[in-house]
Amino acid sequence: MNYVRCFFICCAYLLATWISTVHSVPPSPVNCDTNGLNCLVSSTYRVWPDRSTCRAAKVTYPSTEEEFKSSVAHAVKNNLKIKVISKLAHSAPKLICPGGDNGLLISTRDYAKKIIVNISSSTATVDSGVELRDFVDAIAKYGLALPHSPYWDGLSIGGLLSTGAHGSSLWGNGGAVHEYVVGMRLIIPASADEGFVRIMDLTKEDKDLNAAKVSLGVLGVISQVTFALQPMFKRSIRNVLRTDEGLEEKIIAFGSASEFGDVTWYASKRRAVFRVDNRVPVNIAGDGVNDYIGFQKTSRAALEAQRDTETRAELRRDSKAKCDAASKQIAALLMLGMGFKNNRVAFTGYPVIGYQNLLQTSGDCQNAIDTIPLTLVCPWDHRFKGSFLHQTTVSIPISQIHHFISDVKKLRDMDPASLCGLDLYNGFLMRYVKKSSAYLGKTEDMIDVDFNYYRADNASTGRLHEDVYEEIEQLAVFKYQGLPHWGKNRNVAFVGIASRYQNLHKFLKVKQRYDPQGLFSSEWTDTILGIDSRGVTIQRDNCALEGLCICSEDVHCAPDQGYFCRQGMVVELWLCMKSMFCSEKLLFL
Ligand SMILES: Cc1cc2nc3c(=O)[nH]c(=O)nc-3n(C[C@H](O)[C@H](O)[C@H](O)COP(=O)(O)OP(=O)(O)OC[C@H]3O[C@@H](n4cnc5c(N)ncnc54)[C@H](O)[C@@H]3O)c2cc1C
Ligand SMILES: *[C@@H]1O[C@H](CO)[C@@H](O)[C@H](O)[C@H]1NC(C)=O
Ligand SMILES: *[C@@H]1O[C@H](CO)[C@@H](O)[C@H](O)[C@H]1NC(C)=O
Repeated sequence: MNYVRCFFICCAYLLATWISTVHSVPPSPVNCDTNGLNCLVSSTYRVWPDRSTCRAAKVTYPSTEEEFKSSVAHAVKNNLKIKVISKLAHSAPKLICPGGDNGLLISTRDYAKKIIVNISSSTATVDSGVELRDFVDAIAKYGLALPHSPYWDGLSIGGLLSTGAHGSSLWGNGGAVHEYVVGMRLIIPASADEGFVRIMDLTKEDKDLNAAKVSLGVLGVISQVTFALQPMFKRSIRNVLRTDEGLEEKIIAFGSASEFGDVTWYASKRRAVFRVDNRVPVNIAGDGVNDYIGFQKTSRAALEAQRDTETRAELRRDSKAKCDAASKQIAALLMLGMGFKNNRVAFTGYPVIGYQNLLQTSGDCQNAIDTIPLTLVCPWDHRFKGSFLHQTTVSIPISQIHHFISDVKKLRDMDPASLCGLDLYNGFLMRYVKKSSAYLGKTEDMIDVDFNYYRADNASTGRLHEDVYEEIEQLAVFKYQGLPHWGKNRNVAFVGIASRYQNLHKFLKVKQRYDPQGLFSSEWTDTILGIDSRGVTIQRDNCALEGLCICSEDVHCAPDQGYFCRQGMVVELWLCMKSMFCSEKLLFL
């Protein structure tokens, strides 16, 4: 996620240095009674995309593979639904919710001890609960590096692989973590004579590895993963600010010009930041770190004030306030080098050169000492009224990106202020992801487009310029046949996607062999994989406002507030548009 909350950056930043050790771990996703029963499973973003609740009968916290096996065996024996869930569980859709209300949750929180490095083969085998930060730092001690990773280091190995998480690259095997997996050990259901569980040790010779590498957790428990690593290297990073003229072509050329490059597009400002980011030998001087501002521990008070300011701008329909805030924020971000620090302490200018493990991913807000709870937090912590947003993250085929960008520019040119609400959340983060051998990985070379925007506390509240954001989302998903990130997005981004995966049938065959009863599957996974034919959308009043449906009637928007279902400017799809006039249907009367 491309997550910056820094209208109050400077103040949050100072606070962070004053009170450096007083902050709070993100909340557990599971809350049960004292016996670990009757659990409520919550989203890290306060509510699920459809604002429903999720229940489970029980949670277990195995710390060894034997304990894992007995948890799974117990569930299989009793025909219970199962979900594996990481300590912090940061996927946005309802992936960690077991089917029904009586499911068993198995957490990898305490299964994060083993990181075994084999120097002669340059591989490492890790427990699935290990956090990305712990992994990349541990292998660095042996002079080894994982070439690509997501940008937040609080994700678990099991969770980030299961959702196809990636960094940015078209070089070599590309920017997705699963491209570097050469072995996996799974615990899957089995018959009573086998003791209800079986271990599957997959190596890179096994075709099933292409299913297991990105599995949405539906094949079974991932116990261990083996990665092919590279000798440690350094990177040299320079963020270059340009106008967005010709971005349509430049973004394609940039993919081959920079190994780890990405592009942040501030469309309302007509600017793009090209992150020129390449590998350099380890003997080049530089001790830089990535301490991305959006992932630093942040003052709760600042987050609340910021939310308040944005909500007031929404109520006044004040685009200018959002544009001004976005300008200040972008200026602050650029001045602070986005959080890159040349010598571990401060940003003194580009290039920032440093070791791969210290630049590839960042975090900090999740590593907490809970002295005064909720003073310094992760910006997305939901225990108070801070940030609350929608996120859309869809990969678009490189062959189509030119058209996508020019369509967004058309929308922008009709009303430039309409996109300030995205720039306030750091614009469009665009990253390169290569065609994958994973059955649920990218089907061709793509550019992943990631943007966030204000979500109202009340699901039936229409939002400023929401038609424009809906239109961009629908352009990406329908006109350009994009693939949504499995671990992010609102429901509409998943409409009809099963048919876009040519290898889906191969994945489903493996799933059928590994878990014929679908114990690891849920309503949500069955739906996105096209097994449950009901589809991902939910038709009800106001459903289009939160991306639960595409509107076909005015009641799907908010007619009482003047939001009617209208045709888009660029796509022939229906959006909730704020209108001074009455509904189209009434106009025709
Ligand atoms: C701040 C932030 C930044 C992010 N940055 C990026 C980024 O740069 N690039 C990117 O691609 N994504 C990014 N993401 C998205 C992220 O990759 C997904 O949200 C990811 O799924 C979260 O992993 P997790 O460890 O929280 O997994 P969870 O949410 O706990 O689980 C995700 C899925 O994996 C399954 N699972 C987890 N562990 C196991 C296991 N051991 N065995 C079987 N199944 C398992 C779960 O059942 C579930 O289906 C970011 C998210 C956040 C919050
Ligand atoms: C390390 O890798 C080498 C080469 O692949 C292999 O022969 C050896 O058995 C591995 N060592 C261990 C302890 O697994
Ligand atoms: C949300 O807004 C609607 C309509 O404005 C109102 O009827 C409803 O009570 C609100 N819901 C909540 C939870 O505040």
